[in-house]
Amino acid sequence: VGIIGTGLIGKEFLSLLHEQLLFLRKERNIDLRILGITNSKKMLLSDKEVDLPHWEEQLEKSEAADLEKFTQHLLTSQFPHTLLVDMTASSEVPKHYTRWLSQGMSIITPNKKANTGSMDQYKEIRQIARKKNKYFLYSTNVGAGLPVIQTLRDLLQTGDHFIQIEGIFSGTLSYIFNNYSSEKAFSQVVKEARLLGYTEPDPRDDLSGMDVARKLVILARELGWELELSQVKLESLVPEALRTGSAEDYLRRLPEFDLQMSALVQSAEKNNEVLRYVGTINEAGQASVCLQKYPKTHAFARINGSDNIVAFRTKRYDKQSLVIQGPGAGPAVTAAGVFADILRYATYLGALP
Ligand SMILES: NC(=O)c1ccc[n+]([C@@H]2O[C@H](COP(=O)([O-])OP(=O)(O)OC[C@H]3O[C@@H](n4cnc5c(N)ncnc54)[C@H](OP(=O)(O)O)[C@@H]3O)[C@@H](O)[C@H]2O)c1
Repeated sequence: VGIIGTGLIGKEFLSLLHEQLLFLRKERNIDLRILGITNSKKMLLSDKEVDLPHWEEQLEKSEAADLEKFTQHLLTSQFPHTLLVDMTASSEVPKHYTRWLSQGMSIITPNKKANTGSMDQYKEIRQIARKKNKYFLYSTNVGAGLPVIQTLRDLLQTGDHFIQIEGIFSGTLSYIFNNYSSEKAFSQVVKEARLLGYTEPDPRDDLSGMDVARKLVILARELGWELELSQVKLESLVPEALRTGSAEDYLRRLPEFDLQMSALVQSAEKNNEVLRYVGTINEAGQASVCLQKYPKTHAFARINGSDNIVAFRTKRYDKQSLVIQGPGAGPAVTAAGVFADILRYATYLGALP
């Protein structure tokens, strides 16, 4: 296994793997060897196995990162199966996926960029993986550790008929709207969310809604639609006047727009409703991301913290939707989801479940 990306998720994953490695070898006969770890600056290579408890110090002292050399190292190892785990948010790394698959490596990733790039690239990845009998797994692309993509696949492949998928797909925006009311300024809630580490360093990366739009594209493509990111109807929560400039400028000027948001929340509260930022794809082939009002009794109004919630309406689950809810972001649940994909991959290769 080669690990690309040692940020929040990569670090957590390596520590989780270290805890579970003995158990996997003893109880499941799965012998996972990390033969390389790289980030954008440094890479650590090992012929037998990276010393997991000390990977950080060793990576620090190791050679300059070089993805070509990194993958060659994995390919020339004596082990029977080669897996790359891309834990970056990079658009550059996925450009190599088709080549890596055709060289005989499987790929597992929480990175959404490959699945939301051009439809041609999306199809090519799958064609090559199939032709080469390799795997491309990305269950954490939507809902992190929650079983969103797998559930949709199970429904479709068992012949259910899709009607609508509706959900709160952003942990950050979930937190913001779970804490926003007429008693607080919107700008204040955004600042608090940033201080608590719920937002990206530049909160506009979350509030633009682009991440939610990417998740809708991924689900729509699972449905077989040829949807491009530009076709998602997207309501950005970043005021037009604040879309350029630094994150600091944005946060400083955001209070100028508090009145606009407070008019919306007040009108919702008057009708016993709340505001939620929701992504929807429907039978008519439309995908949209926008701010909506829901009655306080609705499942979307009763979520906590940074929960995600996804409601699948299908022919089988028509009167009552199939609902998946829980933390949909964060290092622990995302790293565990990536790990679960690796164990699924081992099972496909013949490990007993
Ligand atoms: N955070 C979550 O809750 C969550 C949930 C679901 C999915 N995800 C996805 O998981 C992925 C990782 O997220 P994260 O929060 O761990 O990100 P992060 O903390 O920003 O870490 C990204 C890592 O990728 C490395 N990297 C970037 N470009 C690279 C390149 N060209 N070659 C090699 N390494 C490169 C960075 O290297 P340096 O260390 O050298 O900068 C860094 O180690 C993202 O795609 C994200 O969307 C995250």
